[in-house]
Amino acid sequence: MTTGDNEQRMWNPFANMAALAGHAINIVGGERSTVFDASGRAYLDALASLWYCNVGYGRTELAEAAEAQMRGLAAFQTFEFYTNSAAESLCRRIAELAPVAEAKVILTPGGGSDAVDTAGKLARAYWRAAGEPDRQIIVSRSHAYHGMNAYGTSLGGIPLLTEAFAPLVGQVEQVPWDDPAALEKTIELVGDSRVAAFFCEPVIGAGGVYPPPPGYLAEVREICRRHGVLFVADEVITGFGRVGEWFASGRFDLDPDLITTAKGLSSGYLPIGAVICSQRVAEPFWRTGSNEVFRHGYTYSGHPTAAAVALANLDLIEREQLVSRVAALEPVLTEAVTPLAEHELVSAVRSGTGLLAAVEIAGDALAPDPGLGQRLVLAIRERGVITRLLRGIALQISPPFVITGTELATIAAVFGDALDEVSSRL
Ligand SMILES: Cc1ncc(COP(=O)(O)O)c(C=O)c1O
Repeated sequence: MTTGDNEQRMWNPFANMAALAGHAINIVGGERSTVFDASGRAYLDALASLWYCNVGYGRTELAEAAEAQMRGLAAFQTFEFYTNSAAESLCRRIAELAPVAEAKVILTPGGGSDAVDTAGKLARAYWRAAGEPDRQIIVSRSHAYHGMNAYGTSLGGIPLLTEAFAPLVGQVEQVPWDDPAALEKTIELVGDSRVAAFFCEPVIGAGGVYPPPPGYLAEVREICRRHGVLFVADEVITGFGRVGEWFASGRFDLDPDLITTAKGLSSGYLPIGAVICSQRVAEPFWRTGSNEVFRHGYTYSGHPTAAAVALANLDLIEREQLVSRVAALEPVLTEAVTPLAEHELVSAVRSGTGLLAAVEIAGDALAPDPGLGQRLVLAIRERGVITRLLRGIALQISPPFVITGTELATIAAVFGDALDEVSSRL
């Protein structure tokens, strides 16, 4: 085998290794919204890494929380009999913050994909335990991204990411992302006695940052209620403040049966996620005398060090009032990026739900020139800002909550300059 760099052993996610080997950018540190590479070059991170570094880089108190926990109990399993104080405290804290009455919390060890697979299995297990074992179908939406494990891949609505693999899990159905009537029609077509759950990102993220069309969420929520279908809010991106409230479920009054979370729970300082369960879903398993067991869990479920870091992260968000900061920055971001919609290479700019925005590249420019999007990403990076392409068509903006108004203006200005440069070379 000949490769670009025979010394390289790391195989990066989503990378063309034939081109990347030996050329990856080595990030060595960070401070607030800026990261530094090994050559000392600074980049303003318009992504908060992958939508997660909400408290920003260089927060030594999170390292201290990890160290303190590791000096006590670094790790111990939580299967069946065992628990630990950090995990218990974190679950209590999440239950207090979540817009779900009397919530129970299942901690997951990795990113959002673990939370999604846990919620998918729990939805099915719930219906078995509730005496309706035929309810096994899960419905998701076009443009949806629910992670890369088996359930998440099968529920995904981005064909490029699913067509080589899905369906890994059977009994999934997909509906257009913006059409409540299509959801109801699908439920009626397959029969509501067979539908377990509807998975819904309140704001579609990796599919291109699509805030919900007006009224959409209220309508699909009501349809699920009418048909007894569990409503699962996938808040892996939106959870813990990104839309200017602790949860998008609160902002949009979703009253979900399950919420999946990860990313912002720890700001990524250690991997950890959580599935927040309503009383309805918990009841068959927690009811006095019940023999129902959710036979699911991971070696590192309830990992005390990850839990301690997540707790310290939530403390920090509260102490610095970062959730209200996001709400205050929402119009600032919109004002900064909206003028980009005037550019000839841009077909749309989406924003308006917290610190989330996307700049969509005009289809008539992309179609004859598919490399255009990556050239823009590179031109933006050359100007010191990190972004990436979503679904091949849109540039992502999801900065840390500590970003300043001036930095948001810089991101918009750099996007504008890069668009000008790239269009001048067409
Ligand atoms: C809505 C949503 N669900 C699930 C996931 C999967 O999370 P992870 O990549 O941390 O496994 C993501 C990741 O971006 C996501 O945006």
